[in-house]
Amino acid sequence: ERTRVAIVGAGPAGLLLSHLLAAAGVESIVVDARSRQEIETTIRAGILEQGTVEVLDGIEGSRARTVGHRHDGIELRFAGEGHRIDFPSLVGRSVWLYPQHEVLKDLIAARLAAGQDLRFSASVTAVHDVDSEPRVVGTDSDGAPFEIRCDFVVGADGSRSVVRPAVAGDRGNGAFREYPFAWFGVLCEAAPSSDELIYSNAPDGFALISQRSETVQRMYFQCDPSTDPEALSEAEIWDALQRRVPGTHLTEGPIFQRDVLRFRSFVAGGLRRGRAALVGDAAHTVPPTGAKGMNLAIADVLLLGDALRRLLVEHDERGIDAYAETALRRIWKAQHFSWWMTSMLHAVPGADAFDRQRQLGELRGVIESEAGQRFLAEAYTGWPLPSSF
Ligand code: DHB
Repeated sequence: ERTRVAIVGAGPAGLLLSHLLAAAGVESIVVDARSRQEIETTIRAGILEQGTVEVLDGIEGSRARTVGHRHDGIELRFAGEGHRIDFPSLVGRSVWLYPQHEVLKDLIAARLAAGQDLRFSASVTAVHDVDSEPRVVGTDSDGAPFEIRCDFVVGADGSRSVVRPAVAGDRGNGAFREYPFAWFGVLCEAAPSSDELIYSNAPDGFALISQRSETVQRMYFQCDPSTDPEALSEAEIWDALQRRVPGTHLTEGPIFQRDVLRFRSFVAGGLRRGRAALVGDAAHTVPPTGAKGMNLAIADVLLLGDALRRLLVEHDERGIDAYAETALRRIWKAQHFSWWMTSMLHAVPGADAFDRQRQLGELRGVIESEAGQRFLAEAYTGWPLPSSF
């Protein structure tokens, strides 16, 4: 069968792209190896930049602004003291706490209501002929083989992308960084412990106190990447969290999910080849500190959606030819921000007295300077989309 754009991956990037293309009159098919249930229940990120919320506002039924919670600041805590960064007074913007799986429920419902061809449990095994007439081959939910011919194929299929090799070659072609720590993440049934998110640099490691709702909280603490999530008792988890946010008493409750998140930075060696391109985690990975992952995927898609409209409707190749270079400017700013927040806030194994004091000096440099705070607030709430990439 044939379509104009084959989109591999029904995450935030792939679903938003199908929406933008449909609005431009361009037909697409979206395929994802996961079931709808898995996509709608997997716990991922929580923070949306203001620009991301504005994009979602344009989608019928999006609840990001109404059910999500506006956050006007975060707290940086170090050396036993908390320091609030107030976004509206610094940059006139805010962020929204609205879980990624809720974004996905909204997007899937909107795309299905609009008649989008959206195929779950359909795994792509290979992408061929991206330099001429792309073909996407795989196995559908019944186990039957499929082949989709298209004008353009987009890899929106996450960090283990099957489209990436066809665009960028193997992994070795990219820029890669691994970190000597990870996050132990928990979801618990408890009331919020703080009105706003707390990013805490404590002597025995970093902790982030985030939220999901009035009754469910999300918290993370720095751990060794080899940590087995099942190895700690609930008491040990609460002890690790409590010790890392001195000055705040965390409201405890049953922990019903735990996971260990690896820290990596990655940018693929190419984002576009012929009639194929990559967006979101297929193109890049950031460590979670600063919550840039999903927001960066949305920024890629705004750019690629416009480039594909120009290519497929107006037969103008300039947007698609500029896609990689333009997207990479924002991607590397987000890479720097995520790396910076990570290195400024975590206890680095093997750090000596100089490293530790230098880190506290850096944190003081940020919070004691309005310019420093504004730099952080601009990045956290999101650089403008998309004209000033
Ligand atoms: C969350 C995750 C982040 O990485 C972050 O910087 C803020 C919030 C979260 O999952 O809530």
